[in-house]
Amino acid sequence: MIETARVIRTQPARLGPVLIEASEIAGRVRSIADEIQRDHAHGKVRLLVALKGAWVFAADLARSMEGRVEVDFLRLSSYGDSTESSGQVSISGYEELELSGTRIVVVEDLVDSGRTLHALMKRLRGCGARSVRVAALLSKPSRRIVEVEIDYLGFEIPDRFVVGYGMDLAGAYRHLPDIRTLLPL
Ligand code: PRP
Repeated sequence: MIETARVIRTQPARLGPVLIEASEIAGRVRSIADEIQRDHAHGKVRLLVALKGAWVFAADLARSMEGRVEVDFLRLSSYGDSTESSGQVSISGYEELELSGTRIVVVEDLVDSGRTLHALMKRLRGCGARSVRVAALLSKPSRRIVEVEIDYLGFEIPDRFVVGYGMDLAGAYRHLPDIRTLLPL
């Protein structure tokens, strides 16, 4: 039986099959790095990493890039019940950043409802950046509630709860090299 992300969050779970292997992720990340560099050939790239989930993607992406790259981090979290983000997203670390004149690439691990990314993009409006683009490793189009634009996308996936490569279930599994699904216990 296919378990949706919502079901998995509400019951005990165990690791399921690999959805995307580390080698496939690595190839896609290198392609995204190339695309970003092509689009920013004449200037420095400022990677704005959405913690915590994007930490592994961002580390691999940054290390696949040559030239002038800076990396900054924002802590994004949404308040709501345990199964759905409410759309009220808290963004910390923003005030310390000087973004005026920069070429930003937001780095996200997953776009689900789109609410988190939408809130961040709204916050970035008026920051004075020369450009703001988005790199997301995963997208679940079937879950979208808010329309968001993704400039560099790794993979579209179905509505499955995924862990590994930075993503967690209650803090666990972020260290796994592959992206895996979960199954009920
Ligand atoms: C995940 C992911 C995105 C957000 C996407 O973060 O990293 O930021 O959910 O969901 P949305 O499109 O429905 O808003 P999560 O809340 O799991 O926190 P984490 O990154 O700290 O693990």
